[in-house]
Amino acid sequence: MQQQIPRNMIGDVLKHPIKEAHLQGWIKRKRDFKGTLIWLMRDGSGEIQVVLEEKNIPDKQSFEHARKALMESSVAVSGTLKEDSRAPGGKELHASVVRVIHAGEEFPIGRDLSEEFLLDVRHLWLRAGKMQHGLRASAAVFEGYHTWCKSQGYIEVQAPMFVSGAVEGGNELFEVPYFGKTVNLTQSSQFYLEAYAMALEKVYTVAPSFRAEPSRTRRHLTEFWHAEWETAWSGLDELMDFNEHMIKSIAKHVLEKTPDVLKATGRDPNTLEKVVNTKFQRFTYDEAFEVAQRKFPELKWGDDLQEAHEREITKDFDVPILVHHYPTQLKPFYHRPDPKRPETVLCCDVLAPEGYGEIIGSGERSWDVNELTQRMRNQGLKPEDFGWYVDLRKYGSVPHTGGGLGLARLAVWLYKFDHIRDVVGFPRTMNRVAP
Ligand code: 4AD
Ligand code: MG
Repeated sequence: MQQQIPRNMIGDVLKHPIKEAHLQGWIKRKRDFKGTLIWLMRDGSGEIQVVLEEKNIPDKQSFEHARKALMESSVAVSGTLKEDSRAPGGKELHASVVRVIHAGEEFPIGRDLSEEFLLDVRHLWLRAGKMQHGLRASAAVFEGYHTWCKSQGYIEVQAPMFVSGAVEGGNELFEVPYFGKTVNLTQSSQFYLEAYAMALEKVYTVAPSFRAEPSRTRRHLTEFWHAEWETAWSGLDELMDFNEHMIKSIAKHVLEKTPDVLKATGRDPNTLEKVVNTKFQRFTYDEAFEVAQRKFPELKWGDDLQEAHEREITKDFDVPILVHHYPTQLKPFYHRPDPKRPETVLCCDVLAPEGYGEIIGSGERSWDVNELTQRMRNQGLKPEDFGWYVDLRKYGSVPHTGGGLGLARLAVWLYKFDHIRDVVGFPRTMNRVAP
């Protein structure tokens, strides 16, 4: 392609006093106004109005192609920038050169389409403004997590996705054929991080986790990106501090890096400033459960806190809360019972405010080999099936803690989205694995 001027990005053109520009992008919307074409053109950095007047474009054939080009066709235009307060972004480009790079077929996405249809054409729907905000939000949260972990001296490690056995309970395991055997997709990298932590002390990972949960909620996926960490020589208090400072640090990152996305999604930055600057309150399960019980009288001590209960508990908060000491019977065998109150474990869930609910599950690990194997047997599990994990307690075991954060759930709350799908490009749910 000939280019008179090097390519400019729309975002730069809107921000800086540029007089002449050459843009490449897609036609987001188009109007034909008495022979003048008006496009809303987008590229990876923004959107701008482009005015194509026949009299200004010497190449008549190119102008004819442009006139016929359908929505989402890819195009290149060169011309002069003019300030115009009516145009989105305050400027418009008056084109003197236009070229249709690819004349697209009729775009299948119009207005008022069902959520299911939009999921069928997800590969194209990614181009919509709302999806672009969700993807940028997600990227900032991933980056914020990496930045936090690195700033605290945590070393990034990788755990396998093919595993043999459950971490979070046997009913939610996917099975995969593996050379004549059956193996599982991992539910959590935790056990591997515990092994790494005995070598490197402070480790973290960002990886998919898989859950065969038949949950159809706005916060469950069957495959989600899991931010996990593990810390040797640490207990519940340090863990709760880590959780709180991590969320604050990611909120700060999001505020600094994506003010435009926050504005677009309607999240008031002052709310996140408050998250950064306010101490998070800490409650025992007993206290949280009592709040939920007022609205749900059938709830008994020892029941898990479901989505509706967490909504009730968190709806009047505007910063997250930490809930610790859940009933032992509720949590997987690896949680360490509190020696002072063994009917509860030394764990901490972080619940996002405004009804959003759980974003982190974390806790102290049972690090004594006898306690751990007894906990397994109590839950009907065989220690032999967890050979290498039990082994970690035989050679210089130390107190340690760790946790897992659902990055998509965190992004949904921070940016005030409604649904986990809003921040995931190709969400996997019970009835959808395509596109
Ligand atoms: O509470 P969970 O199940 O805890 C664990 O997996 C621990 N092994 C983590 C650890 O200690 N290393 O999951 C942790 C977090 C949840 O708080 C939630 O944010 C997210 O992972 N999560 C999901 N996100 C989306 N869809 C799902 N189905 C999820 N299940 C858990
Ligand atoms: Mg949990």
